[in-house]
Amino acid sequence: MSSMDILTLDDFDFEDKTVILRVDINSPIDPQTRRIVDDNRILRSLPTIRELSDGGARLVMLAHQGDTLDYQNLAPLEQHASMLSRLLDRPVAYIDDVAGPAARERVRRLKRGEMLLLDNVRFHTEEVSTFRNYVKLSPKEMAKTYIVRNLAPLGDLYVCDAFAAAHRAAPTLVGFPEVLPAAGGRLFVEEYGILKRVRDNPERPCVFVLGGAKISDAFGMMGKVLADGTADRVLTTGLTGLVMLWAAGIELGRVPEAYLRDRGLEPFVAQAASLLQKYGERIVYPEDLAIDDGGRREIPVSALPVETELIDIGSRTIAHYASILQEARTIFVNGPAGVYETKAGSLGTESLWKAIAEAPGYSVIGGGDTVAAARRFGVVDQMSYVSTAGGALIQFLSGQKLPVIEALRRAKQRYTGASA
Ligand code: 3PG
Repeated sequence: MSSMDILTLDDFDFEDKTVILRVDINSPIDPQTRRIVDDNRILRSLPTIRELSDGGARLVMLAHQGDTLDYQNLAPLEQHASMLSRLLDRPVAYIDDVAGPAARERVRRLKRGEMLLLDNVRFHTEEVSTFRNYVKLSPKEMAKTYIVRNLAPLGDLYVCDAFAAAHRAAPTLVGFPEVLPAAGGRLFVEEYGILKRVRDNPERPCVFVLGGAKISDAFGMMGKVLADGTADRVLTTGLTGLVMLWAAGIELGRVPEAYLRDRGLEPFVAQAASLLQKYGERIVYPEDLAIDDGGRREIPVSALPVETELIDIGSRTIAHYASILQEARTIFVNGPAGVYETKAGSLGTESLWKAIAEAPGYSVIGGGDTVAAARRFGVVDQMSYVSTAGGALIQFLSGQKLPVIEALRRAKQRYTGASA
């Protein structure tokens, strides 16, 4: 039996078993062509899929796929099935049904080692409304929702490999472990194990680099990781850095302040001010910035306010942050330092990402933009650990309980209790 608090694939024999596998192959999609543009999550899901199929399982896969518009225009999973077939070099069947009569009939006809990908689970409202809190269901109630009620009786075992969705309390993630023996897949267990070590026992000093445009992510975790000592220092960049400057009483200028206001980010200023008051120099903010006036131009913070957008951190900030990162023994990065997709706004992200890649400390990166930037600047392979998760990673590292981990832990207690 695995020594972890959840069961793993090592705890089960799959021969001639119907295994319901939940993966997270939610991938960036080109808004024009609707084609998948990054297959990272699909590649990372392959070891579990291969192991289950090789082990003789009849494999039923469940997954979701969003869109740039979040929860609208959800894409079907047909192209994911074709990509899986190609990458595994064996057929992966697909059916445009999730848990209706056609899907159930197809599951019943599966033979040893065969694989079937059902359609996007989020075509069912219950799968989204529950985690978005419009409908609050307990895990037991989720086990009675349409998908779980219809598919669970056909399965012998549930495996979850969707660490990137571990923060979503949804039926396909939390409902199945209530009614079937349940284990974490290889990717799930790898992410959980590595990130748990980073969270619970980081080598010191531990430095968090928080930037990007999703300020709520950064502020959701900053207070927590500073209070419990997970982070020794927090280096702020991107919009998070601007909010810090504003909170420190520095006028940014009409245009940057309107930009933050229009995005509803002004309320974070008060939160930032109280964090600065409480944690002082453990929070570091930019000393210079970049603007685009027909090309990149750097200005010291003392030159604020400006009447133009602030697009990046400046070279003095980069050098200061790089020297802190060089001394760090653990580094966690979430969110780019500026508008890294543009020539004028890329220097901060490119330089910091390279500094992190070269620093001797253990580096963890996650989240769509953060990983995409690392790929763009050619340093993704030099990071110590690249998580497939974004939101789940942030919630996990800030010490929040993730519903899917809790569901798998309960499933282990039930299973070991029953088999003891
Ligand atoms: C992600 O992309 O972070 C996961 O697939 C979860 O997707 P969601 O944020 O749409 O729930």
